[in-house]
Amino acid sequence: MKPLVIFGGSFDPIHNGHLRIANTASEKYDADVVFVLAKTPRWKTVNESEEDRLNMLSLALAETCNERFSISRTELDRDGDFSYSIDTVKEFCAMYPGRKIYFLIGADQVNQFDKWRQSDEIASLATVIFSNRPGFDINMENVEKFHMESLNFLESGSVSSTRVRGLNFMDIPVSVYSYIIDNHLYFVKELEKHIKPARLKHSESVAMTAYNIAKQISIEMGEKALITGLLHDLGKSTHEEEARAIIEENYPEYKDYPEYSLHQWVGRYMAEELFGVTDEDVLNAIEFHCTGRAEMSSLEKIIYSADKIEPTRGYDSSDMIRACEEDYEEGFLYVLKENMKFLDDKPLGVQNKLTQECRDYYLGD
Ligand SMILES: [Fe+2]
Ligand SMILES: [Fe+2]
Repeated sequence: MKPLVIFGGSFDPIHNGHLRIANTASEKYDADVVFVLAKTPRWKTVNESEEDRLNMLSLALAETCNERFSISRTELDRDGDFSYSIDTVKEFCAMYPGRKIYFLIGADQVNQFDKWRQSDEIASLATVIFSNRPGFDINMENVEKFHMESLNFLESGSVSSTRVRGLNFMDIPVSVYSYIIDNHLYFVKELEKHIKPARLKHSESVAMTAYNIAKQISIEMGEKALITGLLHDLGKSTHEEEARAIIEENYPEYKDYPEYSLHQWVGRYMAEELFGVTDEDVLNAIEFHCTGRAEMSSLEKIIYSADKIEPTRGYDSSDMIRACEEDYEEGFLYVLKENMKFLDDKPLGVQNKLTQECRDYYLGD
C-alpha cells in the first residue's frame, strides 16, 4: 500500500497554496493525501460552518482531478467539542495497519508542536512533515526533537486563507470562488454592507466576465480581475455631496466631473480605506472604469470592457464578450467604439476630459 499523508486543517477556505503543498507531498513520498477537516481548531477561530468548509474542500478537490486526494470527515464526526490530531493519527493507523503514515503541518505549527496533546506519540506513529514558508523562522529544536522532515517547498505562494477572506488575494480554485459568492461567505458579507443587492449582482458579473477575459494574460491577472470587478462600484451608494467632499479632499483635479463618474474616485478611496487594497493596478482600474483615460493598463481595459458588456446588462453583448475573450486589446477597442456611439446619441455627448482623451488616444478622431 502506498504511504498516506494526513493533511489536517480548518481550510477556511481551502486555497491553491494548500493544493500545491499537498501535491508536493504526494509526489515526494509517492503517497495518497487525505484532507482532514478540523472541527474546532484550538488555535484559531473559524469563520464559516463545517458544512461550507467541507463543500469548498470537495469542490476544490473535484477541480484538481487528482485521484490521490481524498477527504475525511473523521474529526467532524467525532464526539466532543474538540478533535485532537493524536486521535486522528491513531484512527488512520488502526484503519491501515502497516501503512506508512505522514502527518503534514504548516510552518507556523512547527513552533508550537511541542504543546500539542501527545505530540510525542503523534511523532512516533507518523512522520511529521512540514511545508516551509519564505521568511518564516522555524524552531529547529522541535524539528530535531520530533524528527520532522521539511518538504523544502517554498512555492506555496503568498496566498493564505486570511488574505482570501479579506478579498486581498484570490489564488483559489474558481469553483471555490463561485461557492463563496453564491453562499455569501467571507468578503461577500463585507461587500453587502456597502453595495446594494442589484448592484452587487452586477459587480459579481463584471468580476466573472473580467476573469474570463483576463486569464488570456495569466491566471494571476484573472485573480486580480475578480477582486477589481467585485470592488469597482463600491462608491455607487455614496450621495453626491459626500462624494464631492471625498474627491475635493483626495483627488481635487476631478472635483468638477459629472455626477455619474464620481463613484469611480469614491470607489478607489473606499477600496483603499475599507478593504486595504494597495495594488496600484487594481486601484487604477477602479478609478478609471467609468470614464476610461489615455494609456490604460491591461487591467484597466479589461475592467472598463467587462463593466459595459457583462451579460446581465440587459442587451445582447455576446459579440463583444467573445471579442474580448479572444483578444482583450481588440475587444476593448470594439467596446470603446460602441460606447462612444452610445454617448454621441445622448444630448450631452462626451462630457468629460478623461473620456475625450481616451477616445482621442485609442480611436484617434
Ligand atoms: Fe461604475
Ligand atoms: Fe459597474
